[in-house]
Amino acid sequence: MMLFQPPLPPHYAELSDEEMADRVRAHKQAFGDRLIILGHHYQQDDVIQFADHAGDSLKLSQLAAKARNARYVVFCGVHFMAESADILTEDEVTVILPDLSAGCSMADMAAIDQVEEAWEQFQSATDARIIPITYVNSTADIKAFVGRHDGACCTSSNARRVVEWALGRGEKILFLPDQHLGRNTAYALGYPLDSMVVYDPNAVDGGLTSEQIRNAKFLLWKGHCSVHGLFTAKHCDLIREADPACKIIVHPECRWEVVQKADVAGSTEYIVKALEEAPDATSWAVGTEIHLVNRLANKYAGRKLIRSLAGVQCLCTTMYRIDLRHLLWSLDELAAGRIVNQIKVDPDTRHWARVSLQRMLDNVPPQPMAAK
Ligand code: 13P
Ligand code: SF4
Repeated sequence: MMLFQPPLPPHYAELSDEEMADRVRAHKQAFGDRLIILGHHYQQDDVIQFADHAGDSLKLSQLAAKARNARYVVFCGVHFMAESADILTEDEVTVILPDLSAGCSMADMAAIDQVEEAWEQFQSATDARIIPITYVNSTADIKAFVGRHDGACCTSSNARRVVEWALGRGEKILFLPDQHLGRNTAYALGYPLDSMVVYDPNAVDGGLTSEQIRNAKFLLWKGHCSVHGLFTAKHCDLIREADPACKIIVHPECRWEVVQKADVAGSTEYIVKALEEAPDATSWAVGTEIHLVNRLANKYAGRKLIRSLAGVQCLCTTMYRIDLRHLLWSLDELAAGRIVNQIKVDPDTRHWARVSLQRMLDNVPPQPMAAK
């Protein structure tokens, strides 16, 4: 969801990085444990340095759910993450997204009216019980739809576990909105590609006949991440040619053929842990957002060779909108008694979205798991 972020007051443009960092530090101290700053791994270093917790979507959802003393959660991530935090925290907790234009293009690829229309089409094509699963990268409306229809959310850390859970409850899965995570997960569970069809919300009848819907085990929504979509099988081939000892690790939002060529695939938290545990003198090509890749490359410089799988900068431009300036502005306003950029989900949507998130949290494995 792309919301309008009004420009900041002009004097923020004149502040140096040091001044801004000092003021954020002072705010954190003054608020104490009434304030929690959560930061997704793709955030810039000068923002992530102030996060009380950094993590992937799953870890951050769990932390938000446990935020007992906090009165304010400032979410340095994208809109759907802040919505999830609002859904999982108590009513008294205020969730703030420092820049409202920090959306996720993948989440925007499934609108609730499109999903409702597709659902009707599936119901008239088949009597089979369909369990909807939505990747957490989706709007609260979609999470609520899934909650109302006996489904669950998943993240890239637990998609496999959630799909197994759903297969025990129904005959078919509708996987929203990331076709790649859906395909990679189903394939890793042993389902062949021809057991999956792609529903295109922009085509007449989703581009599917009733027979195709009846024959498919997995109905994959035609959504994708434009950042991870930049990694190609050719990038893997080039790396293998140039450095045969190099390991390739990718996020499961990458296309199926990239995941197949990679040595391992997993969530951002999984990637962080895998590289931490990797022996010295190993080399790695990483298929995920550039800020995380650069952070890991710097952290292990001189010990492990870490670089992006692609020669180009794969940047999540919406995550990038959360900068130190917007973080400071949201905290300045809070300190002045004004809440800006609050993310609040309406009560009915919140209830059902929470059901789908809770079903996920009840099914998570103790450790981040690989999707391959
Ligand atoms: P993770 O849950 O792995 O952090 O992924 C979130 C995301 O948006 C990746 O593009
Ligand atoms: Fe969305 Fe892709 Fe950015 Fe993740 S990297 S927040 S999926 S656009």
